[in-house]
Amino acid sequence: MSKLHNGLAVWFTGLSGAGKSTICDGVEQELRNQGYRVEVLDGDVVREGLTKDLGFSKADRDTNIRRIGFVTKLLTRNDVVVLVPVISPYRAMRDEMRAQIDSFAEVYVSTPLAVCEQRDVKGLYKKARAGEIKQFTGIDDPYEPPLNPELECKTHESSVEDCVHQVVALIQSRTAIA
Ligand code: ADX
Repeated sequence: MSKLHNGLAVWFTGLSGAGKSTICDGVEQELRNQGYRVEVLDGDVVREGLTKDLGFSKADRDTNIRRIGFVTKLLTRNDVVVLVPVISPYRAMRDEMRAQIDSFAEVYVSTPLAVCEQRDVKGLYKKARAGEIKQFTGIDDPYEPPLNPELECKTHESSVEDCVHQVVALIQSRTAIA
């Protein structure tokens, strides 16, 4: 017998400073207000714990994504909506997550590099340009945009609120609160 369930992984990919975590904050709040069970696996936060041992080589980024994907899978199959804001620059790795996680939606936060760099919320682009940080995504490390994301959030054209509403609508269309 099939059962209604709410488990869904919402995978936010995009450059550092694109606004992934900011959108997630708003989505998390709104989902909680609506009674959803929600968890957030933010790259910056997970890298302080579960993936603290990893750097930013391709191999380490792949391991980072695989560990996060493992936890995401466990949670989604227990009816949690899991919001995952991570750069996840490699298309093949995101596709691997899509293949492994039963219920999966990819949100491309497509803020252009120039805008992210101008915002430079954490001051990391400045350091990357100065050569103080190596292998920085968008500067001297690749970012492969999604070819067919479920949703694209253009934070340079839309407000955060609009982006949040778009994501919440996507989640509602893919889940069923019993
Ligand atoms: S991912 O590439 O493995 O998906 P993740 O989202 O976990 O990256 O972590 C990215 C965050 O780490 C950035 O938002 C930034 O704060 C920090 N960071 C530090 N060094 C780098 C780097 N070389 N490239 C990208 N982000 C970096």
